[in-house]
Amino acid sequence: MSTASACTTPRTYVVTGAGSGIGAATAALLRSRGHRVVGVDLRGSDIDADLSTDAGRGSLADAVREAIGDTVDGVIAVAGVALPTSLTVRVNYFGAVATLEALLPLLRNSPAPRAAVVASFSALQQNDAQLVDLLRVGDEDAAVARADGLAAEGLGDLIYPSTKRAIAEWVRERAVTPEWAASGIPLNAVGPGIILTPMTEPLLATPEGRDALMQVVPMPLAGPARPEAIAEVLAWLTDAPNAHMTGQVVFVDGGADAVIRGPRVFD
Ligand SMILES: NC(=O)c1ccc[n+]([C@@H]2O[C@H](COP(=O)([O-])OP(=O)(O)OC[C@H]3O[C@@H](n4cnc5c(N)ncnc54)[C@H](O)[C@@H]3O)[C@@H](O)[C@H]2O)c1
Repeated sequence: MSTASACTTPRTYVVTGAGSGIGAATAALLRSRGHRVVGVDLRGSDIDADLSTDAGRGSLADAVREAIGDTVDGVIAVAGVALPTSLTVRVNYFGAVATLEALLPLLRNSPAPRAAVVASFSALQQNDAQLVDLLRVGDEDAAVARADGLAAEGLGDLIYPSTKRAIAEWVRERAVTPEWAASGIPLNAVGPGIILTPMTEPLLATPEGRDALMQVVPMPLAGPARPEAIAEVLAWLTDAPNAHMTGQVVFVDGGADAVIRGPRVFD
């Protein structure tokens, strides 16, 4: 999984959130290996699209077709926000699902199609059961209303982990359906711990903030990671050699999952 092991057959990828952090690192890694990447972000990318809106989601497939044609080998849904508001519901869950569903027909034209989503270690953290249930059934209006309610009650911090729990579950559920598995498309998620990107910059800016975050996400292996660490895993998950791994949520979290949940997770 290193740059040195770059694959020789160029592939085409769509990476959302390509303008910053993990998405930018992923796009850069894939390009450094000779692949073609169409980046999607709010602005300044190959495709500008606001994935929190119907308009942005609806324009995505056509914009990708215009950019690279009818075939996409890899879709990597990275775009996300970590705000205690309902925007997080719209981007992290409905934006990611819309990206994968809109580009599924283009993936089906590839000889080795692969897809991945960036979830989070926070999928394992306390969330709001009602919001997760509304996300499970795909009711965006009701989920947004619930998130607005949580924010109004001062419980906005439950929104982000709820979206990440739901998208991780969506991956596990959908990966084994005919739509994905019988089409030969591995679909997986990555669950990063704390990654050094603009998203976490304010939280890590002070020693107190960093200590508080490390209490919540203990990372005994090497502490907070650079976004390139996640890019390497996303690149492997969406490369041709990954022919059999699907429906997994791969925690790239310096050991946080093993610390918090311990060894007995297989019951
Ligand atoms: N940084 C971390 O510690 C961490 C940990 C776990 C999971 N994640 C997840 O990783 C992903 C990337 O986060 P990051 O740390 O690189 O953050 P980032 O803020 O550096 O990058 C996120 C990117 O998503 C884009 N984006 C936001 N809303 C969008 C929208 N409506 N439409 C299109 N693009 C939009 C932003 O413009 C930005 O370029 C997110 O899904 C985040 O939840 C991050």
